[in-house]
Amino acid sequence: MNRISRRDTGGNGGVARIVVTAPVSIVVPTYREAENIPALIARIDAVRAAHDLDVELIFMDDMSRDGSVEAVAAAGRDWVRIVEREGERGLSPAVLDGFRLARHPVLICMDCDLSHPPEVIPQMILALESGQEFVIGSRYVPGGSTDDDWGFGRWLNSRVATLLARPLTAARDPMSGFFALRRADFDRARDLNPIGYKIALELIVKCRFENVGEVPIHFSDRLHGESKLTLKEQLRYIQHIRRLYLYRFAQIMYLLQFLVVGASGMVVNLSVLSLLKWMGLPNAVSLAGGIGVSVVTNFLLNRRFTFSYARDRNPWGQFAGFLAASLMGIVVNYAVALYLDRNVLPETPYSLHVAALAGIACGTVFNFLGSRYMVFRKRYIHK
Ligand code: GDD
Ligand code: MN
Repeated sequence: MNRISRRDTGGNGGVARIVVTAPVSIVVPTYREAENIPALIARIDAVRAAHDLDVELIFMDDMSRDGSVEAVAAAGRDWVRIVEREGERGLSPAVLDGFRLARHPVLICMDCDLSHPPEVIPQMILALESGQEFVIGSRYVPGGSTDDDWGFGRWLNSRVATLLARPLTAARDPMSGFFALRRADFDRARDLNPIGYKIALELIVKCRFENVGEVPIHFSDRLHGESKLTLKEQLRYIQHIRRLYLYRFAQIMYLLQFLVVGASGMVVNLSVLSLLKWMGLPNAVSLAGGIGVSVVTNFLLNRRFTFSYARDRNPWGQFAGFLAASLMGIVVNYAVALYLDRNVLPETPYSLHVAALAGIACGTVFNFLGSRYMVFRKRYIHK
């Protein structure tokens, strides 16, 4: 890894002065933040001077037309610029566009309203250097805090959202809008979905970051203006998190849905069997009917839900493939059920159901063993 920073504790009155040699691009999404822009530039400038930071500051503004452009011009810093985005406005797409425009090897995203203290930026870069892949300015690690007048509602909301993200990352505060990552990692990101408001979580999941570091921050109330995080945006989070689960746990989600469909097939099988028997049909026909109908419903449900991505393909061809894949199990199922019913089980009102269940169990085990020892068998190389 490139050496991107070094710690220098000498000659500064005992105060740790972090000398960072990596140039950093700070991307700040803005919508109607003209009042906050001068203060943020001043705070970042102070950090820049104190640590000899090579900074590029990019405001990604969605046509606020509230004096934001003028505010950046008035600041008169050649390392600060503002980009006016056209088209649909949105926090995440603004951040992603900003990262794409950024020129430096370290990328940082933060709010414009001074909720996020720029003073911890050198520490965040240092954490990247010490091997972290993604660094969060975090409210929920020791040393982190929020202003007192966060109402219970906002606190609860933030906690529930964080809890839902737990299976996706061990980070304590993946909801934070203050984070740092390497440009090289960002460039490798695929399938980024700019819909979600939680851009940090999106990046952690899609870039498959494992080493996520957190630097404690005090999250202050915004300096001027109001939050743009609407209720609609928060509801969208549920949709966002479902997509991230599907992305991250694809195989397990398929298997789970497949098992649920299988269980439903068992219910269908026994119901049809009962109906046919009640209608007075011979046991052999009732057993076959139960199996036949459940194979069809299993196929239809798997096609509609479990493997819905393949729904646009020819269903008849798919059904033939499904039958071929389950044929052996079906035959074993039928043969076992019929044999038990005819030769083993004493005649009781439920003996046919017991036989059918045993058939299903044997068919399933047979399908598994067939896959294990025939289709996916291990190969041994003899010398
Ligand atoms: N370009 C652009 N377009 N910027 C936007 C938009 C938009 O549509 N909406 C909001 N922003 C900017 C704001 O101007 C601000 O600089 C930043 O994005 C965050 O918006 P806030 O309105 O300050 O959100 P918040 O403080 O309520 O939420 C913050 O905390 C959350 C965790 O509690 C953000 O940092 C969230 O990202 C974070 O999840
Ligand atoms: Mn904010």
